Amino acid sequence: MRTVRTVAELREALAPARRDGATIGLVPTMGALHAGHLSLIEAARAGTDVVVVSLFVNPTQFAPDEDLDAYPRDEAGDARAAEGAGADVLFAPSVAEVYPDGFATTVRVAGVSDPLEGARRPGHFDGVATVVTKLLNMVQPDVAYFGRKDAQQLAVIRRLVADLNLPVRIEGCPTVREPDGLAMSSRNAYLAPEDRPRALALSRALEAAREAVAAGTTDAAAVAAAARVPMDELGVEPEYLAVVDPETFQPVTAVDRDVLVAVAARVGRARLIDNATIRPDGSVP
Ligand code: PAF
Repeated sequence: MRTVRTVAELREALAPARRDGATIGLVPTMGALHAGHLSLIEAARAGTDVVVVSLFVNPTQFAPDEDLDAYPRDEAGDARAAEGAGADVLFAPSVAEVYPDGFATTVRVAGVSDPLEGARRPGHFDGVATVVTKLLNMVQPDVAYFGRKDAQQLAVIRRLVADLNLPVRIEGCPTVREPDGLAMSSRNAYLAPEDRPRALALSRALEAAREAVAAGTTDAAAVAAAARVPMDELGVEPEYLAVVDPETFQPVTAVDRDVLVAVAARVGRARLIDNATIRPDGSVP
């Protein structure tokens, strides 16, 4: 695996593949790679000829009071993990390479960026949309891989790719979970041992929502109330617990088609999110 730090080096590294008509896969990451990221890299390895992993802790998607400085960083460990999972190129640019002096453009996806995460983290999705647009233009992949754990981010990216006619296929990959159900996240590193059992509140809420739908509940408010029960039992207060349309993230009133149940909560120092798509018969696609 080759590590490159500038767009010029990246383009030079990818030139032979492009000349030969090989397909290029991109896995954008902020590092602190865990099994969820590795599953994206493995999907890219299986689906494309040349796999690029980007490693960039994007400052524009963090609010001033968020964890930009504390965000876990271990480039050497990430490089080993990415290579082990099948990456060919690690693109690890500096902040100045991505946002040079005079940088003045923001990509904003209206609508889907606004509720839930967008309401709690103003500007977050503008930062994500801007950096992802740049990464897609820098790498020019055939396919880019994102985790469904960040479902709203995935919906924002799908919208921007469609709206801007970007010539890339977006692949949403399943959430990878710990054996007890906790969704893998770089921010799980913030969980103190005494908080770890309470972190299960999110996945249990989603399971309770699924069971309620499977048992015949169609009213979205009743599904949300059922999901709330395990959270209350574990003493975890949701920041939001919402039943929404999976594309627009607007609230729905009934589970009469596929819906997304999305939840966010603080558990100790960690702010965690999780979600599940639920079909009207209570199955999960
Ligand atoms: O999901 C992430 O790790 C980040 O939001 C992304 C897509 C790499 C953009 O910085």
